[in-house]
Amino acid sequence: MNIQSFIDDAITEIRQQVKGRAIIGLSGGVDSSVCATLAYRALGERIVPVYVDSGLMRQFESDRIEMLFRDLGLVRFNAQDRFLEALKGVEDPEQKRKIIGETFIRIFEEEARKISADTLIQGTIYPDRIESEGGIKSHHNVGGLPSRMEFKHIVEPLHDLYKDEVREVARALGLPVEISERMPYPGPGLAVRIIGEVTKEKLEVVRIANAIVEEEISEYSPWQAFAAIIGKATGVKGDNRVYGWIVAIRSVSSRDAMTADVMELNWELLKRISSRITSEILSVARVVYDLTPKPPGTIEFE
Ligand code: XMP
Repeated sequence: MNIQSFIDDAITEIRQQVKGRAIIGLSGGVDSSVCATLAYRALGERIVPVYVDSGLMRQFESDRIEMLFRDLGLVRFNAQDRFLEALKGVEDPEQKRKIIGETFIRIFEEEARKISADTLIQGTIYPDRIESEGGIKSHHNVGGLPSRMEFKHIVEPLHDLYKDEVREVARALGLPVEISERMPYPGPGLAVRIIGEVTKEKLEVVRIANAIVEEEISEYSPWQAFAAIIGKATGVKGDNRVYGWIVAIRSVSSRDAMTADVMELNWELLKRISSRITSEILSVARVVYDLTPKPPGTIEFE
């Protein structure tokens, strides 16, 4: 792919496809950031980037994104309680994705009404579509979209690109390294890193565990490295029996997320992560390392 001609064509196409004003869903990941930058170059102030703080994001992520995109006129929408309420009692992963996809869209619609926009621009990439259409997972921005929407048009300038191509475009657009090389993160966020119901308590635990894993593993350049809560188990802390969370660590290498290999991490590193998680999070009783490649496992647990 010739990157410069992709950029030129994408800008021309966005100008042709978007007539009035548009909302762009920005999560701060490489896909939506590239998309927002292309859209801004194509349409200038006719786009409004909206960042939804779903409460499912990683530690300190929301403030960081707000700072990074202030110049594009970013609107930050705080919706932590709304997502928690919508996810109450929901255990099924596909159901979670649908609820999250719908909640995102309803918020984008509310923002769109304020500026009379009828177009939503999204950073959907090729593998998102393939996995959703193949019935593997309803990615929240594809299969997780509600059937009825107020938007008249959905524009997806990156829909034929793989992640490594998006990164090349990000570099060519001059985006900061922390964005162009950013680890992929799923739209439904920590909700798919908690098996079973999403609660405030579990979110706090899994958020800290993810921060520890990223801090420890990032320098080994994983495709993705993260933590998930996969259940409860008995343990002993001090003189007391505890019935606490089981946190699973996953660290994989991959080219395009369609397949993935488990990283053979150094034993000392794994032991340090385990010990940090159990000592820094009181309610965690056990830490395990996932040894499953994709296939047969998927990258995320849900
Ligand atoms: P899986 O778990 O299917 O993930 O092997 C492949 C890649 O997609 C990410 N992922 C998602 N991204 N919405 C997204 O935007 C989703 O619903 C979703 N589910 C998984 C996952 O983190 C990995 O990079």
